[in-house]
Amino acid sequence: MFYFYALTFCCLLWLLFHCSVNCSDINIWRECNETYPVPDATLISFRNNGSIPDENNITARCFTDCYGKKTNMLTSDGSFNWTTLEHILSNFKMKHTAMDVLGKCRKDPSDDECMQSYLSLKCVAETILSLINAR
Ligand SMILES: *[C@@H]1O[C@H](CO)[C@@H](O)[C@H](O)[C@H]1NC(C)=O
Ligand SMILES: *[C@@H]1O[C@H](CO)[C@@H](O)[C@H](O)[C@H]1NC(C)=O
Ligand SMILES: *[C@@H]1O[C@H](CO)[C@@H](O)[C@H](O)[C@H]1NC(C)=O
Ligand SMILES: *[C@@H]1O[C@H](CO)[C@@H](O)[C@H](O)[C@H]1NC(C)=O
Repeated sequence: MFYFYALTFCCLLWLLFHCSVNCSDINIWRECNETYPVPDATLISFRNNGSIPDENNITARCFTDCYGKKTNMLTSDGSFNWTTLEHILSNFKMKHTAMDVLGKCRKDPSDDECMQSYLSLKCVAETILSLINAR
């Protein structure tokens, strides 16, 4: 299971880490794209840095919601799953707890659950990228 999380989040930040992983083989991307079909540019951008170019598009937002829930980064109600985030951070050898680093990423519940999930995941990706770049 641990490897699974590392792998999927690795794919989110794929180009940065140059992982030797063929992300298109990963079922989560395919399953979510089947339910919420998005252009390749959206997938690539989200994978790179957690942002999507078409964040006003509800299908694109819900793709990220689907991704976050299927990877267990988010719970079914859209909150963070701290167990999973702790696993992810330990993979990147962070010195702090996930709550210390990512606590600021918690969003207030909103009517647009997919937007909330998107902003939460984008914040996670941005935070981890900035920590890595600061090294
Ligand atoms: C996502 O779905 C769209 C529409 O079915 C398809 O054109 C596209 O190739 C799919 N992308 C991936 C990466 O599977
Ligand atoms: C994220 O990656 C996409 C695709 O490479 C790029 O177009 C976009 O500018 C990046 N966004 C940020 C905030 O870095
Ligand atoms: C959202 O994006 C999809 C894929 O590009 C497109 O088919 C759909 O029409 C867009 N929806 C809206 C409401 O713009
Ligand atoms: C949180 O993620 C773990 C795996 O990291 C999973 O076993 C657990 O069921 C998840 N909890 C919730 C509330 O989704």
